[in-house]
Amino acid sequence: MLEHDVIIIGGGLAGSRAALEVARKAPHLNIALVAKTHPIRSHSVAAQGGIAASLKNVDPADDWRAHAFDTVKGSDYLADQDAVEILTQEAPEVIIDLEHMGVLFSRLPDGRIAQRAFGGHSHNRTCYAADKTGHAILHELVNNLRRYGVRIYDEWYVMRLILEEEQAKGIVMYHVHDGHLEVVRAKAVMFATGGYGRAFNTTSNDFASTGDGLAMAALAGIPLQDMEFVQFHPTGLYPVGVLISEAVRGEGAYLINSQGDRFMANYAPSRMELAPRDITSRAITLEIRAGRGIHPDGRVGGPFIYLDLRHLGREKIMSRIPFCWEEAHRLVGIDAAEHPMPVRPTVHYSMGGIPTNVEGQVIISSALAGNFQFDPSDPISPQDNLVDGLFAAGEAACVSVHGANRLGSNSLLECVVYGRRTGAAIAQFVQGRKLPEVNEQSYLQEARNQIQALLGRSGGLRIQQVRQDFQDVMTSHCGVFRTEAIMQSGLDKIHQLQEQYQQIYLDDRGTLWNTEIIEALELRSLMIVGQMILTSALNRRESRGAHSREDFSQRDDPNFLKHTLAYYSPAGIDLSYRPVKITCFQPQERKY
Ligand code: FUM
Repeated sequence: MLEHDVIIIGGGLAGSRAALEVARKAPHLNIALVAKTHPIRSHSVAAQGGIAASLKNVDPADDWRAHAFDTVKGSDYLADQDAVEILTQEAPEVIIDLEHMGVLFSRLPDGRIAQRAFGGHSHNRTCYAADKTGHAILHELVNNLRRYGVRIYDEWYVMRLILEEEQAKGIVMYHVHDGHLEVVRAKAVMFATGGYGRAFNTTSNDFASTGDGLAMAALAGIPLQDMEFVQFHPTGLYPVGVLISEAVRGEGAYLINSQGDRFMANYAPSRMELAPRDITSRAITLEIRAGRGIHPDGRVGGPFIYLDLRHLGREKIMSRIPFCWEEAHRLVGIDAAEHPMPVRPTVHYSMGGIPTNVEGQVIISSALAGNFQFDPSDPISPQDNLVDGLFAAGEAACVSVHGANRLGSNSLLECVVYGRRTGAAIAQFVQGRKLPEVNEQSYLQEARNQIQALLGRSGGLRIQQVRQDFQDVMTSHCGVFRTEAIMQSGLDKIHQLQEQYQQIYLDDRGTLWNTEIIEALELRSLMIVGQMILTSALNRRESRGAHSREDFSQRDDPNFLKHTLAYYSPAGIDLSYRPVKITCFQPQERKY
């Protein structure tokens, strides 16, 4: 059995930043990071537009309180405000730390870090490295992991979390190269496994974003919080859905319908193209529904609208957003300096995830959980029960700084602030603790049985077909707008697909690079996550942030200013609720 003091699952920004902090705080510890791809291929590398912090380099009137207010308002008041205060107060410091590590941020003429406008932010506070910010940060973090001697297990797929009596004891992992299984025991385990964009058929997320960490936590009895809040990024390139960064609008691009109108004037007149993503995605969807979209052949009434950046000029486009230009050129053959880009909303981010406190410790239940009503005159603080030795950060976690809708450029920030805090908390937690007892043979046998059961399947369905059907169901039954009837029928279809999953077969029965085994395991994760999303969404009978119900079109604070906790069991999902922490900003009507 392998042994490490600390095991971190996920090699993206949150996992790498946490590993680095553990190593900085406690250099004697034996730290391992496990990732199903190479860490620099984690989805964080695809982050484009930037990372928010009130550095005041461009806008001296900015400060962390303004950043905190924008974040809470953007979240439609569902964010936990103590967590937002930490996020925004620590932001400038973590950016300077990244700069000292060597991250190549874009610069102002005087050499300070440049900052641009982003949706929902009242000041220009998004720091960036052209439109490849995730790439610039992740490469430095991964270089530093090597410097600090963190052991990296790349291309290992984690199959299960070992959780006994509310204590995390380790993991079971599968080596994609040769099918080798290992049990690893550890004093602390951290999830930084990212999101689940691949549950949908159109997403900005990479192929590895399959919600494995979320499903693994759920299978171990940990609730998932606020899973109904799925972020649609307004500008996915049509038809592929890849990200065209909000930075393009931050640099001044327009959204145009088939009439040539800048239609955001009708939806968010004070912010226009830089309204928060939930509002902008709804606006685009409504324009398309109203017949003011465009067809690929130029006819009106089609499935996309235009992102027009021609007025920015080629020089600005090529220096500030070269990657977005290149994507449109390579994928749809458009020179964006000459022609507008076809875009429409694409699934981008999970506001929900594994609930944690502000030190990254995973919450298993709340003493105040239940179906309570929010009373603004009596703010209550949740009393949470924690899992011993289990931590989470980044998109996989829900701390919750984004509430019902995340502002662009707050996600990289969350990874770095809460990755660092969680790393520090882990370094403290493991001091003086012994490695737990783990029955290696029984966990190995269980994993072997699971693999054998997959290899032994003799059904008639291809994995790809079931996955495609599932992604189509999520896309058509859990979109930008939702109703009870459409979501219920989506959930019924998912149950049928879960039965069909028992009929899949694998062509490859070998052990060397058997990617079909990984695809089968990932599909199981995706379907669990899909069930959690739809069940949570069905029971939130209001509209808030990214969860927009046509049958309950208003926000309902008395009944729904609370976090959903969804507990998985094969028999179904149980729901409970926990209070939102409100410190500075009382809920108000949200207008832009
Ligand atoms: O549009 C973007 O560049 C994405 C940024 C984010 O999701 O924070």
